[in-house]
Amino acid sequence: MKRPLLPGLALLAMSWTAMPQARENTDRVTGLARVGDWQLVQANCTECHSALLITQNSGNRGVWQSRLTWMVDSQGMEPLAAGLEARILDYLEQNYGPRQSARRPPLPSHLLPENPYPSL
Ligand code: HEC
Repeated sequence: MKRPLLPGLALLAMSWTAMPQARENTDRVTGLARVGDWQLVQANCTECHSALLITQNSGNRGVWQSRLTWMVDSQGMEPLAAGLEARILDYLEQNYGPRQSARRPPLPSHLLPENPYPSL
């Protein structure tokens, strides 16, 4: 019974040490990165859905622009004033820009067990 507890404690300790930084830079309620115009995003983008839809997404300015257009065209969002939209797009592209796949890369072959099948 004691053994399975240890990895759990190690994970807990790791997440504790990782937390303070996340707390400093991330709004605890919305999860938005607390830099620049984050409060404009909080005020204009969390009325209809959680900010998680934003923080889990990513894209360049054009991608974010197209999502705003989609919400105006099909989800009942009021068009944003041009200056406000530009500031929100600045924030989104700087903090939630394009990213590579979140999946980890495959292990290199020297870290894998020997392949039991003869190569063809
Ligand atoms: C008038 C309501 C409304 C407002 C305001 C609004 N959205 Fe949305 N948004 C929606 C709806 C509805 C969806 C679809 C929700 C779902 O799929 O569950 C959505 C989906 C999204 C998605 C997910 C798109 C995808 O590809 O899955 C993102 C990202 C997003 N919104 C960002 C924003 C941002 C940024 C703002 C602020 C500029 C904003 N939203 C403001 C209604 C709104």
